[in-house]
Amino acid sequence: MDTKNKEGAPKTAAMKGKSVVVTGAASGLGRATALLFAGRGARVVIGDVDARGKDVVQEIAEAGGVGEFVETDVTDEESVAHLMDIGDRDDTLDVLVANAGVSEAKGLLHEMDMKDWDRVLGIDLRGTVLCDKYALGKMMKRGHGSVINVSSILGVVGQANSTAYSAAKAAVANLSRSLGATYGPLGIRVNAVAPGYINTPLLASLPEDVRSVMVSREPIGRLAQPDEIAAVIGFLASDDASYVTGSVLMADGGYTAV
Ligand SMILES: NC(=O)c1ccc[n+]([C@@H]2O[C@H](COP(=O)([O-])OP(=O)(O)OC[C@H]3O[C@@H](n4cnc5c(N)ncnc54)[C@H](O)[C@@H]3O)[C@@H](O)[C@H]2O)c1
Repeated sequence: MDTKNKEGAPKTAAMKGKSVVVTGAASGLGRATALLFAGRGARVVIGDVDARGKDVVQEIAEAGGVGEFVETDVTDEESVAHLMDIGDRDDTLDVLVANAGVSEAKGLLHEMDMKDWDRVLGIDLRGTVLCDKYALGKMMKRGHGSVINVSSILGVVGQANSTAYSAAKAAVANLSRSLGATYGPLGIRVNAVAPGYINTPLLASLPEDVRSVMVSREPIGRLAQPDEIAAVIGFLASDDASYVTGSVLMADGGYTAV
């Protein structure tokens, strides 16, 4: 795998000997992120409830990279601890991308089934916290590493009928700021990326008229492709971002700029 940086220098071996854990990488943004890090020479460990994570490992292998799939439910503490054990095999865990996430059945709060609230908060917030906790524990052994949590534009601005998702993603953003402040002096950077609408299966299930409204709200005039957001995650993980911690980096086509 031979990806190039802006100056044309090969990045193939930039992460050789390092491991990256990406949750929710059986699909969408996580998949694109796993492929990006594999292209940089990292061993990529995919944690997902969806066994299609194995297909992504296969894609990585076919491109000459190294990947592993660990069936993981990010809401389950033992499952996450096991994922990070595999991720840190031979003391190699360098990057966590806490990406696994789900959306909610949009609607009015007073009609909401609180089981849906618990499901979304459980995966999007508690799942992120658990992954951060166990990855940071590994990274603390070496006083080095980078954590990138996936928030959303809806963690930064509100949107009608988005309740649990917006609350969870706002918490993920501020969690990342506080962890950035806490672990910065300890040598570990923690940041969040806040994407706008991305063309992934999460959005594919929405009706076309809803997708058209989304596009109309993006000043850039289109949805993001998953690899455009993966590239921002790749930047945050890299030494190019050595002075970036505790930040919530908008990658939203200008959505929150207007
Ligand atoms: N698609 C968008 O427009 C958009 C915008 C902003 C932020 N995001 C965020 O990006 C992230 C990735 O979303 P996507 O669009 O690629 O969605 P996706 O549905 O394509 O992928 C999400 C992945 O998370 C996995 N997952 C769900 N529950 C899990 C659990 N309990 N444990 C482990 N894995 C689990 C799914 O199996 C899936 O592979 C999410 O956090 C999402 O909130 C997406």
